[in-house]
Amino acid sequence: MALIRFGVSIDKGLLAKFDAFIKDKKYTNRSEAFRDLIRQELVGEQWQGGQKIAGAITLIYNHHKRELVNKLMDIQHDFGEIIISSQHIHLDHDNCLEIIAVKGMPGEARKLSDSLRSVKGVKHGTLSMSTTGKDI
Ligand code: NI
Repeated sequence: MALIRFGVSIDKGLLAKFDAFIKDKKYTNRSEAFRDLIRQELVGEQWQGGQKIAGAITLIYNHHKRELVNKLMDIQHDFGEIIISSQHIHLDHDNCLEIIAVKGMPGEARKLSDSLRSVKGVKHGTLSMSTTGKDI
């Protein structure tokens, strides 16, 4: 991959904010921070634009609610095509953490995440919107 250098004109105050931001985020130089910001936007575009994406859904719930566990299982079987892996961790006597890795179209991933997170009894859920790594 060829590296290309180019100049950027930027307001002094904005650059000072950028430098403070990258220091806070532990970047060692502006270039890498700049590249990551660009990639972040491109990944956002992949999620908006209907390109194939990858990501992870996390769920926290109480496994003693049997109906809830069955429902989460039913939903996951309905979306079997985009689920590439799942992991169940027993956090304590009551609470479970489930991590579901997905790869596919963003609409389907969102639908799966929304369906799981809205089940009654799910205490917390997140959707980490990442990328397959292609085209960025
Ligand atoms: Ni468990």
